[in-house]
Amino acid sequence: MALKQKVRDMFDLNGRVALITGGAGLLGSKHAEAIAELGGIPILVDIDQRRCDLLADRIHNEFGVICIGIRTDITDLNQVVELRKRLLEELGRVDILVNNAANNPAVSSGGLDQIHSSRLEDFSVELWNQDIAVGLTGAFLCARTFGPVMADQGGGVILNIASDLALISPDQRLYRKPGLPEHAQPVKPVTYSVVKSGLIGLTRYLATYWVEQGVRCNALSPGGVFVDQDEAFVQRLSQLIPMGRMAGKDEYKAAVAFLVSDASSYMNGANLVVDGGRTVW
Ligand SMILES: NC(=O)c1ccc[n+]([C@@H]2O[C@H](COP(=O)([O-])OP(=O)(O)OC[C@H]3O[C@@H](n4cnc5c(N)ncnc54)[C@H](O)[C@@H]3O)[C@@H](O)[C@H]2O)c1
Repeated sequence: MALKQKVRDMFDLNGRVALITGGAGLLGSKHAEAIAELGGIPILVDIDQRRCDLLADRIHNEFGVICIGIRTDITDLNQVVELRKRLLEELGRVDILVNNAANNPAVSSGGLDQIHSSRLEDFSVELWNQDIAVGLTGAFLCARTFGPVMADQGGGVILNIASDLALISPDQRLYRKPGLPEHAQPVKPVTYSVVKSGLIGLTRYLATYWVEQGVRCNALSPGGVFVDQDEAFVQRLSQLIPMGRMAGKDEYKAAVAFLVSDASSYMNGANLVVDGGRTVW
């Protein structure tokens, strides 16, 4: 009879190499903390080397694990392939890929500032391409590059960070500014919805692609994190959330730990929604 595995042991990431794109950002750093706390080796992949280095040092000191920050633009296949070469030389394996990087395009007013307007009527092809490049093409390039490494090793996990806005349309009333004419009201850009919905499709595709080689793929859809946003905005958004509040920065760590570890060993192609209930209303 097979030995029963302890639940605590299922979360163990000891020695597992975990790539986190956008690893120097707000949530990327939290994913890294969760992985480090469980003994994993976070590799922070970001375009900002300075923030990567600071965070890698902090995580190493706080959790006593190896943590490396490597400047890589994930929209550039050559840089992603170079990253694979370096990681395989230095660490010999890759067990986890968290596709977390995003452009997080600004919500901005139309009419007043045509160049950076986020309104659909004004939204430039250039901004569209930039957002898709980071959020979707970057995730595709990383999966294309590191999926085969995991498949060759006989297993691994890909986690795509989507959003509650992968499931629902942005409520544009949240972003309204009093006194502005209709054509100048700020909106959440279309690319955010498209990138996040696309990641759910990518999740389903990847969930079957290397499944026979033991590579699973899931998505996490977080709701908005409270980071001292404008009070009126926070109040309006909180009213759309059954729990009546935005998320704290640490409230996705356990979900990430679950999704990247053996604790979720029978979960594949799923989207875990952690949004205080926003999408059930
Ligand atoms: N913060 C939230 O409220 C929230 C809610 C739902 C979903 N999300 C999603 O969670 C993820 C992380 O969000 P965040 O709030 O930490 O954002 P963030 O802006 O703090 O972090 C994103 C990171 O991606 C990096 N990045 C940008 N372009 C890159 C590129 N070409 N190559 C490599 N790295 C690049 C940035 O330098 C940045 O450090 C995003 O996918 C976001 O859409 C965030």
